[in-house]
Amino acid sequence: MSLSKPDRSRPQSPTTPPSPAVPSSPAVPPSAAPPPYPDGWFAIATSAELRPGRVLTRRLMGEDVVVYRTRSGRLRAVRPFCPHLGAHLGHGGLVRGEDIVCPFHHFAFGPEGECVRTGYGTPPPKARLGAVVSREVAGLVFVWWHARGEPPSWEVEALPAAEGFGPVRCIARTLVAHPQDFMENVIDTGHFTPIHRLAVRMVEEPRFEGPRMTSAYRLVRVGGKKNALFSSAPTLRATVQGLGVFIAETTVPAIGMEMRAWFCVVPLDPVRIEMRLALSARFAGVRHRGTARALAALVPGPLAWFSTFETNRDLPIWAHNTYLEHPRLAQGDGPITKYRRWARQFYSDWPGAARQARRPA
Ligand code: FES
Ligand SMILES: [Fe+2]
Repeated sequence: MSLSKPDRSRPQSPTTPPSPAVPSSPAVPPSAAPPPYPDGWFAIATSAELRPGRVLTRRLMGEDVVVYRTRSGRLRAVRPFCPHLGAHLGHGGLVRGEDIVCPFHHFAFGPEGECVRTGYGTPPPKARLGAVVSREVAGLVFVWWHARGEPPSWEVEALPAAEGFGPVRCIARTLVAHPQDFMENVIDTGHFTPIHRLAVRMVEEPRFEGPRMTSAYRLVRVGGKKNALFSSAPTLRATVQGLGVFIAETTVPAIGMEMRAWFCVVPLDPVRIEMRLALSARFAGVRHRGTARALAALVPGPLAWFSTFETNRDLPIWAHNTYLEHPRLAQGDGPITKYRRWARQFYSDWPGAARQARRPA
């Protein structure tokens, strides 16, 4: 798959010139400037990847972030470059106790980022690592990013604790897409039939509250082979938190299964995102406890892969689409306009968002 995307800032022209003999339909409206990186929480790793002493480098908005866990279990995320002479802590940096030690001259930095010693035994300079705000929620490591460097204004909420869910299985993939397009999929009910062969019946209309959007659907398979999973319609409760987190809670009555899937995306650069899917399941509808436990342990792995097959169907669209400031919507579309108005709160630095804000409701 090509990693290129059309230049969203350039006006798009219709693919077929209008025939002079036929009344022409309105041309495709020009694209707006594409949405930039959104502010919010982004999952850059799983908690399981970061055992005490581990140092990882992850990409976030075109820059590196170094994330590590101290020996006592404290999680820290920092900007990668050592304030001494600029070495990259993610390439050879080591955790020693509660400190991270730079590979170049062995200066050490404490959990608050301050330089606590040099490699020469001399007094440390007044210097500290650049901090990146991080949290651990539901077995995922989130970092906060804001275009203007402001501190977190909201938190990622975990789901209520529930017994019987098995271990979380996680997979990560790189996609060509923008987080706003990825999350728009959740309420773009018009694409479910042509792309996913599902008819969705809205059980709860989408609600937009602060940084969260929730809705619930009943899913009905359309065409194709008969599928036992859809013999009685599964329900999907969607919770979107910012433009980085979509939680799908799916109930499949046919097999007595409930699934919790966290689809988290993080922009790597202006074109690509990394999707991290963390999935767990329980089989409350299976009477035999041992069998329910075994299924909850075994099923999430294959189910995570299966879930990414559905995402695969969206990929060619995301890889080549453009952002239209004035989409020509029709009856049958989901609440795209409401969603986009809600989404603009995550752009503190996008003139396009201000333009949308001036539009009447
Ligand atoms: S560059 Fe890090 S200790 Fe010198
Ligand atoms: Fe989709």
